[in-house]
Amino acid sequence: MDTKEKINRKVSVAPMMDCTDRHDRFFLRLMSKNVMLYTEMVATKSAIHGDRNKILSFSPEEKPLALQVGGSNKRELAEVAKIAEDIGYDEININLGCPSKKVQKNKFGACLMKEPDLVAECINSMVNSCKIPVTAKTRIGFDQTENFDYLHNFISKMNSAGCNTIILHARKAILSGLSPKQNLNIPKLNYQMVYDIKNKNPNLEIIINGGISKIEEINNHLKKCDGVMIGRSIYQNPYSLVEIEKEIFKTKNNPTREQVVEKLLDYLKKEVNLGTKVNHIMRHTVGLYHGQVGSKDWKRYLSDNMMARDSDFQKTKHIMTIVQNNEKANQANS
Ligand SMILES: Cc1cc2nc3c(=O)[nH]c(=O)nc-3n(C[C@H](O)[C@H](O)[C@H](O)COP(=O)(O)O)c2cc1C
Repeated sequence: MDTKEKINRKVSVAPMMDCTDRHDRFFLRLMSKNVMLYTEMVATKSAIHGDRNKILSFSPEEKPLALQVGGSNKRELAEVAKIAEDIGYDEININLGCPSKKVQKNKFGACLMKEPDLVAECINSMVNSCKIPVTAKTRIGFDQTENFDYLHNFISKMNSAGCNTIILHARKAILSGLSPKQNLNIPKLNYQMVYDIKNKNPNLEIIINGGISKIEEINNHLKKCDGVMIGRSIYQNPYSLVEIEKEIFKTKNNPTREQVVEKLLDYLKKEVNLGTKVNHIMRHTVGLYHGQVGSKDWKRYLSDNMMARDSDFQKTKHIMTIVQNNEKANQANS
């Protein structure tokens, strides 16, 4: 079966270091069956030589799931693509957008936009080593280069090498002088550049990313691109995934926050028994009541309790009381 046909990338959650780990992805999946999920970036050397169970494992519930890799050594990238396929990932994505100093020093991320031929070679060796789709996530430019022809040429080379899906963060990367955080805010968003790339390359799957949060925005971008990738706004307000399910995927019978917490607590019990720390799971849920009555109570409960001894947190009565109170207060409020 051709896995390339199966992946729905209409809406995806962006790869985010220290955020989209396996616990976060499990939590997000409780609210959305249809969005595509990505791991945090994993360096090729870590994937090959590190503790694979720790770095690459995931729960089957997280699928469909892409592994994002950082690297520029084609042999290593090919090896990681094969490992990803063997472990059961649905896609392998190469990071060509991270501007951090450390990443540049190791020659991966956004600095590779300067080397389209090397990127094409890397993609080609990944494509030849696995059957899952090889995709790329990049920016629309770097430093002084924010130029349609340059980007189009870069993308054409990746496409000729076998990559049919490109995720475009619609702002350029500044490779020196800005921190990674500033690089997510200071360079101006240029959605038009992404639309122009899609128009010029109708056969490519173009996913737009950067500064998107509202349903109306998603719908507008979907008129011009094949998919939308959302990062920070979903991490800050994870229950917005339920709205995405309702409005974009027309899913009925979505879970309440109470049902989400109940399921997450089952997962937590299982994980804690395997040695996972409570806060490694619960820290991702801080935004669950974003914009709702009881948000402060929820955050306070978590900050007071999630560092407590794991065995204490398992007495889940208190947490369900907070959740049920919040649920009632919000129903009364609506
Ligand atoms: C905390 C954080 C970590 C990130 N880590 C990665 C990463 O590992 N790989 C990557 O390609 N992009 C990473 N990004 C960039 C996001 O994937 C995304 O491109 C960016 O946040 C813009 O989308 P947004 O405006 O919807 O957040 C990160 C962003 C944030 C905020």
